Formats: sequence, C-alpha cells, structure tokens
Amino acid sequence: MKLYTQALVFDAYGTLFDVHSVIALCDRKFPGQGAELSELWRTKQLEYTWLRSLGGRYEDFWSVTESALTFACRSLSLECPPETRQELMESYLHLETFPEVQATLSKLSQYKLAILSNGSPKMLAAAVKHAGLRGIFSDVISADEVKIYKSSPRVYGLVSQHLGVPDSAIAFVSSNFWDIAGAKSFGFWTCWVNRWSLPEDELGVMPDATVHDLDRLIPVLEG
Ligand code: LAC
Repeated sequence: MKLYTQALVFDAYGTLFDVHSVIALCDRKFPGQGAELSELWRTKQLEYTWLRSLGGRYEDFWSVTESALTFACRSLSLECPPETRQELMESYLHLETFPEVQATLSKLSQYKLAILSNGSPKMLAAAVKHAGLRGIFSDVISADEVKIYKSSPRVYGLVSQHLGVPDSAIAFVSSNFWDIAGAKSFGFWTCWVNRWSLPEDELGVMPDATVHDLDRLIPVLEG
C-alpha cells in the first residue's frame, strides 16, 4: 500500500449496495424469474451508461435504470405494468448493503471517505440514508455533475475537486472491474473487491490490490 493515502473513495452499486437485493421483489412479481430479470436489468443498465456516454446522449441514472428494466422485461416476455415498474424502480432506493460494509467503514475514520458513483444524486442520497451511512462520507459524488458516466476520466476527475486531495493520495475501491480499470488508468491507486471470484477483464490494466470482501481492505491498507 502506498504511504500517504488520504482518501478512500468507493463505488456504490455492487460495491456498497447489493443491486441483486431486488431479486426477492422481482421473484414475487415474476415467480421463478427474479434472478434472471435482476441479472439482465443490471447488465443493460451498465451497457446503456456506456452507450449513452459514447454517443454524448446523457440521461440520468434513474432514467437509464428504468429503460434497462423495461428492456429486460420485454426481452424475457414479462408483462410489467406501470405500477409494477414503479415498485421495482423504488426498490433501487433502498437496496441492501453487503453485510460487512457498515463495520468496515466505521473502522476507516482516519481517512476521508467518499462515494463516486454513476447514480443520480437522488438515488444515492436515498440509498445512503436507507443504509444508515449518512455522516460516514464527507462527500457523495455523482457522475451527474459532468453528465457522462464512468469510466470517463471526467468523472474520476471530480474526486480531487470535491475532496481537495491530490489524485496520488486517493485510493479507489470498486467491485466492478471496468470501473477499476477506468480509475487505475486515470491515476488512482485501486482495490478491486472481487466478491464473485471473477477473472480480470482484458483491459490492459490491473488493480493494485484485490480483495474478496470489503473487510479485507483494512489489512491491505495497513500492510
Ligand atoms: C456505480 C455503479 C455503476 O457507479 O456501480 O455506482
């Protein structure tokens, strides 16, 4: 670990908040198809952020998430009336956190802690509040500010502006390899939380550290 890390910056969805905690509700609405719907919903959500960024056609993460849900339902031939779609969308405002998140963050108070996410400010504020994490983060930074999504360098560039900490003193933590690749290319020290034991993507960059769960970050920082 480099010596002078001043700030730890976390990705939100998949890293702190479990996007697949919507499976139970999806399964109630569409019995037996919850897991498949959740998987496709998330995959399309990410794809749409990249496509909209490439095409210069930004829409906020709430809209992108809703479009992804509409597509995922249609693709699986699921009839999703507006009130069901609304209910599923609202589940995104109170996602569960991964079990070790709260305890780990509370042990890291010597650092400035922040979130950097594609999520819209409204979505992030709701998720942070629901998780009882308000007050833990000195900043919750949204890509919405620059109207383009990660992994655009413009998004990672927001961190030093917000925190007043040089890029070289920032450690970025994400469970999404593509996000780690973007942050590493930008110049952050990076830690990949490889919760699902996935292979590294072939994007020409590697994380500085890899851990299985967020609580394994502490020994890495101390080492
Ligand atoms: C985030 C998602 C995309 O930026 O993981 O929080």
